[in-house]
Amino acid sequence: MNRIDTLLAAMTLEEKIGQLNMTAAAQAVTGPILAGALIDGIRAGRIGSLLNIWGALEVHAVQKIAVEETRLGIPLLIGFDALHGHKTIFPIPLAEAASFDPRLWEESARAAAIEAGADGISMTFAPMLDIARDPRWGRIAEGPGEDPFVGSEFAKAKVRGFQGAGVRKGLAGAGTVAAAAKHFCAYGAALAGRDYASVDVSERQLHEVYLPPFAAAVAAGCAAIMPAFNDVAGTPMTAHVPLLRDWLRRDTGFEGVIVSDYNAIAELLRHGVAGDLVEAAAAALLAGVDIDMMSDAYSQGLPEALARGLVAIGLVDAAVRRVLMLKERLGLFDDPFRRGSAGAATSSVATTRRNLAREAGRRSIVVLTNDHVLPLLPSLRRIALIGPLADARAEMLGPWALAGSAADPVTIREGLAAALPDAEIVFAPGVTIAGDDASGIAAAREMCRGAEIVLLCLGEAANMSGEAASRANPGLPGVQGTLAEAIFDLGKPVVALISSGRPLTIPLIVEEARAVVATWFLGVEAGNAIADVLTGKFNPTGRLPVTWPRDVGQVPIFFAERPSGRPAKLGERYTSKYLDMPVGPLFFFGHGLSYSRFTLTNLRASSANFKSSDDLTIEVDVMNEGPAAGEATVFLFSRDVVASVARPVLELKGVGKIALAQGEGGTVCVKLAAAALAFPGRDLKPVLEPGEFLLLAGQSADPRQMLTVKVRALPG
Ligand code: NOJ
Repeated sequence: MNRIDTLLAAMTLEEKIGQLNMTAAAQAVTGPILAGALIDGIRAGRIGSLLNIWGALEVHAVQKIAVEETRLGIPLLIGFDALHGHKTIFPIPLAEAASFDPRLWEESARAAAIEAGADGISMTFAPMLDIARDPRWGRIAEGPGEDPFVGSEFAKAKVRGFQGAGVRKGLAGAGTVAAAAKHFCAYGAALAGRDYASVDVSERQLHEVYLPPFAAAVAAGCAAIMPAFNDVAGTPMTAHVPLLRDWLRRDTGFEGVIVSDYNAIAELLRHGVAGDLVEAAAAALLAGVDIDMMSDAYSQGLPEALARGLVAIGLVDAAVRRVLMLKERLGLFDDPFRRGSAGAATSSVATTRRNLAREAGRRSIVVLTNDHVLPLLPSLRRIALIGPLADARAEMLGPWALAGSAADPVTIREGLAAALPDAEIVFAPGVTIAGDDASGIAAAREMCRGAEIVLLCLGEAANMSGEAASRANPGLPGVQGTLAEAIFDLGKPVVALISSGRPLTIPLIVEEARAVVATWFLGVEAGNAIADVLTGKFNPTGRLPVTWPRDVGQVPIFFAERPSGRPAKLGERYTSKYLDMPVGPLFFFGHGLSYSRFTLTNLRASSANFKSSDDLTIEVDVMNEGPAAGEATVFLFSRDVVASVARPVLELKGVGKIALAQGEGGTVCVKLAAAALAFPGRDLKPVLEPGEFLLLAGQSADPRQMLTVKVRALPG
């Protein structure tokens, strides 16, 4: 018998259920803060994993109890949210998505895994893969944006990063953590953008939009999946047999662990699909949920569920086996103290991680508009830095920075001061982020009078995005709009820097400012990264991973719409548009300016006709016609012109980048497997239907600026 069979044979029912039970610790477990019940629970084998604990000392203290004081000595699994870094906080995922750079996505996850491992953590509740098309939903900040192709690339890169070389083999390295991809699935489609609200999307939409990133994560070897809080068409994901058992386990072949979200099994009662904890526990186990995070439902409910015959012991055993196998893969049985051992994350490596955070930061910044004011002239001598986000250190961390330190980030003010030592930078916040006190506006305005340029730092607080942070009006909070108007009124050139976890509806700012820059929440190197872009030390490359609406009335908004029988046409009433505003967004998906200017020509495909097993090579020539060396990003879209099911007007199929010196030309080459042009047919099985396809290349999803080439799928 192998180790796991031996253990299973020796375990009591209580010990088995204990392995399925994940409990939250308070931090500082070496002290008395850790509740006695928790320690007793570990000692009695009633708790198999913990979350919300980090630090080598703290983790080793509880691990010692599990290993040395329990009957079977099974080590604990330690889970933690390292969404965008652990100690070194990186840009929020939505920002990092704007880099369209899988290498960077992987590297920042790798860095987070190394730090998390050094803190004793063995599983991270990441990556967050929820496609989101509604900026009211605060959790849009945590994921890769609106597009399933991007989401899938993001998934693969993050899983590789967190799980390191162990993606396929073991996960035993000290700097390796199991990735728990979340939130499965369609959480981003929450009703009216309200967190935790119900989701009701078609099966087609699940297969086209919400499932692909999870399929990619599973294919990349992701060790765990977390079901979402929401229901999909009336069935909460925590009890969703067709999606968890049939699609995830059977169809994708996922053999890893399914860990519930926090208290989600108990919440089946509030959803109204379970009468008591016994039914809730049975429903989750039947759906394939292995670990109960914080509901205590398995502990309290499973014995009775077994007695009532709602579940069979075989299901409990299978779940325990998966949990033990994960612990084994993580190397926890061989060395429960490997993670958190001395030397795991040295300080010189910490410098490297900080450099990586700066690189990630500047690659995440998106220059939205620029009327010849950026990069800032080196001759500038007096700059007014205004606004509540200019010197807001802790806010720079963004919404998930549990182990990060609020003292760590470089503020915008500090970054600029370091980058522009010869300029006098005067500063006034003017207003607070969300308060209604406008009394500081006059002084801030006065301060601008002697300045050659105003940098206006506006936006949200970090905790206005992320979990439980939906906003019905995702514009500028508080009286920041009043501050902006007072500053614009001076007639000075203004560069608006927008810190946010989502696209903000800021049409006035975009109209009045000479430049607008999306600076999201960039983490510890925020100020330096922003200064790099503003001064031109780094030529911006960030592109929007989400469509940026003009107004909340336009959401949900995304580029991959279906065509409609009456597509929007200016001046024609009976077409799909609004009476009170343009139908298009403020900024298209993929939009983002560079200090260079790129033109695309000569889009071509390696073959005009193809079969489903063929690979195509798509090429487009790019010329840098701007005044500086820079990096162009080319998006390759497709359109299936006539199909058995109406296809979106644009589907993203590839992204290519090329670095070009001033005046230089080059060719971007994107490989496209014909199979990637298949879509879920009427029976939802992938089909590549013969006929014409358009391939389109552009620097964003703006349909007015696309090159097009026709290709044809042949039968067979
Ligand atoms: C609830 C959140 O939905 C989830 O993303 C997170 O991993 C857990 N809490 C644990 O903190």
